[in-house]
Amino acid sequence: MSKIKDKVALVTGGGSGIGRAISELFGAEGAHVHILDLNAEGAEATKAAIESKGGKCDIHIGNVSIQQEVIDIVAKIGRVDILVNNAGIAHVGDLEHCAEADFDRVYQVNVKGAYNALYAVIPAMKANGGGAILNLASIAAVVGISDRFAYSMSKGAIFAMNLSVARDYMAYNIRSNSISPARVHTPFVDGFIAKNYPGQEEEMFDKLSKSQPIGRMGQPAEIAKLALFLCSDDAAFITGNDYPIDGGFIKLNN
Ligand SMILES: NC(=O)c1ccc[n+]([C@@H]2O[C@H](COP(=O)([O-])OP(=O)(O)OC[C@H]3O[C@@H](n4cnc5c(N)ncnc54)[C@H](O)[C@@H]3O)[C@@H](O)[C@H]2O)c1
Repeated sequence: MSKIKDKVALVTGGGSGIGRAISELFGAEGAHVHILDLNAEGAEATKAAIESKGGKCDIHIGNVSIQQEVIDIVAKIGRVDILVNNAGIAHVGDLEHCAEADFDRVYQVNVKGAYNALYAVIPAMKANGGGAILNLASIAAVVGISDRFAYSMSKGAIFAMNLSVARDYMAYNIRSNSISPARVHTPFVDGFIAKNYPGQEEEMFDKLSKSQPIGRMGQPAEIAKLALFLCSDDAAFITGNDYPIDGGFIKLNN
């Protein structure tokens, strides 16, 4: 049985990595998937993958950091039953290696982008009698990770916004949860390794893989399965929580 058949799902950053895997699984489970992404090529590839399996997908090219763009896109979609706040960017560096421009860039996408999507979608969900929200936090929200000053700041904000929204909109039949992956093998990870550790790519990939006690990075499809559960009615009793999906990173790294 399809768990989210005929639901309308908006996935930000659905053109790559975790967002693509979530979009593909939601499409296969019968949802009408709407992707909001900056990257047209990536979004087109996700749409093609969904449609090749008989699913429904529309893409909206836009920037989650720009509130009016997000509002206009959500107005065009109309009904939204599920929001996956997934678009995000990385920055590697401790406080002294986080310039104002770096801090602002991460804030604009990871924090303000998530706020913009929530701001646009919540009224639509209220009008429609409810919905489910999933926010992509990270282990960096709850564990001190080296050289992730701005990124940790942004994911801590996701963790807290999730609680606030879950509390305020419970009365409107809106559930909100977050998930906190450890390293998942996506272009996001390959990109920051290439940018920050040139010439040491293999060594860093191995090091990051082994930082999960389970000995490897997660796969986007594994994150998508948890996302599906939390956004479906199977999780009707679950709101205001964060779910690590981390190969033992938080509790078994000793
Ligand atoms: N990969 C990991 O190890 C990992 C771990 C924990 C949390 N996360 C979080 O999961 C989410 C997805 O990560 P991923 O690894 O799949 O990343 P990714 O880089 O593979 O994909 C991110 C997508 O977001 C889009 N995007 C970026 N900025 C945007 C903007 N301003 N407006 C619209 N779209 C934008 C990109 O074009 C891309 O398609 C992020 O929030 C990330 O912080 C990832």
